[in-house]
Amino acid sequence: MHSLLKRANKIPGDFGLPFIGEAAQLFGLQQLYYHNQYQKYGNIFKTKIMDMKFVVIADPKVNQIVLKDQSYKVSSKLGWKFLEPILGNGILLQDGYQHQSTRRLIYPALHGEALSNYVYTIQQATAQYLEEWVNDTPNILLERLRKLVLNISCKLFLGSNDVQEINELSQWFSDYTNGLRTVIRLNTPITRFGRACLARKRLEDYIYSQIEARRTSKNLKESKDVLGLLMASIDEEGNYLADVEIATQTIQLLFGGHETTARLLCWVLIELANHPDWKNKLRREQLENTSGNDLTISELNQLLKMKCVIKEVERLYPPTYFIPRGVIEDIEINGYIVPAGWFVMLSPLLTHRLHEIYHQPNTFNPARFLPPLEEDKKHPFALIGFGGGPHRCLGYGLAQVEMKIILSTILRNFEWSFSPATSINEPVLQPSKLDTILKIHLKRIS
Ligand code: HEM
Repeated sequence: MHSLLKRANKIPGDFGLPFIGEAAQLFGLQQLYYHNQYQKYGNIFKTKIMDMKFVVIADPKVNQIVLKDQSYKVSSKLGWKFLEPILGNGILLQDGYQHQSTRRLIYPALHGEALSNYVYTIQQATAQYLEEWVNDTPNILLERLRKLVLNISCKLFLGSNDVQEINELSQWFSDYTNGLRTVIRLNTPITRFGRACLARKRLEDYIYSQIEARRTSKNLKESKDVLGLLMASIDEEGNYLADVEIATQTIQLLFGGHETTARLLCWVLIELANHPDWKNKLRREQLENTSGNDLTISELNQLLKMKCVIKEVERLYPPTYFIPRGVIEDIEINGYIVPAGWFVMLSPLLTHRLHEIYHQPNTFNPARFLPPLEEDKKHPFALIGFGGGPHRCLGYGLAQVEMKIILSTILRNFEWSFSPATSINEPVLQPSKLDTILKIHLKRIS
């Protein structure tokens, strides 16, 4: 069997320059790098980033093998290792039994009754933030949405309601995430990375002080935020999270849900401005299915057209546009044997634009997800913006609720436009070049 397989070195592609490989192209061009390589080599190609050899692949069947069926042959911890200095032992950087155990303990804080209890807080935080936003000068779209999501998260995760405290937490959190976008990883007070490490320490200390305060006041059962639920979580084997794990996992959850949700929302707003027909459809759907500004989970579940718009943006602009795994046991991928020591990079970005799955894949068409088309149903791993298998996004439900509430509130009360006035010509192949410069103008509908 093995003799029929080709060696991974035979995969088309380029290892790039000595020492750095193709790191410069990859970090410089971001999404465009993958589109370019796909044009050149097709849906499987090799590359090297520093001293790590990668196979990049866009194929639903392989997505299923790597994420689910043979996930024991790969490691998420190794794949995401570059996040370790910042994320520590967060759940995404765990494998095997440890990962399963942490996942069981975090799950209740993001699902079922907990999720329903978050709706009110999300609505309040959104309404309050949009009031400030509408009276403020136009600002960069992505910055606006990052702040909104962070505002919601501080309330939802840490139970914080104090404006000054939220501002301070937000500042630490942006210092912390900015550190991730830096290549120079020197821990000194004058580097971005150093400031990120300090910010992480402050966030941890804040969480420890909150844990202490809650234990002292003994009202653990009443605290309905994520931190409280993590503190109270015990699985059927009697395992619970130690304080250090609660802090690590809370920071991982804040991190996992922040940039991703903000970026996806950015592109929903851009695409709706670009497709007024869909904006009108969503407004009509709002009026037909919701009673007013007090939304419930069951009302949100009625918003099928909004669900399709969000899915279409997940397809075209997946915020997590690569999913890396370190190979720990030789694995067969499309006729090649990829040895332990290499890395596999699954590509939601390229998978979502495969012609064999999606009709006119570069066109924005949310109706592709409605019956009878339901194009994503052609394969269970054809739409992987939230991953799949054992590491599938734990915050999927929360992200959907959050995005639907924010969008509903905006659609009902506001109109928006962008400057510089840009007509978006599809396909947009480098979205991160646009969402970081566009300024959004928000106007109340009179
Ligand atoms: C639009 C928003 C979001 C997107 C596109 C997204 C995407 C993803 C993806 C692709 C993965 C899988 C990574 C992998 O397999 O290597 C993932 C995992 C994860 N996400 Fe999300 N996410 C979003 C929102 C959230 C939110 C709001 C939270 C938490 C509040 C969250 C928490 C997590 C966690 C904890 C994991 C790791 C799960 C595990 O390792 O078992 N995400 N997310």
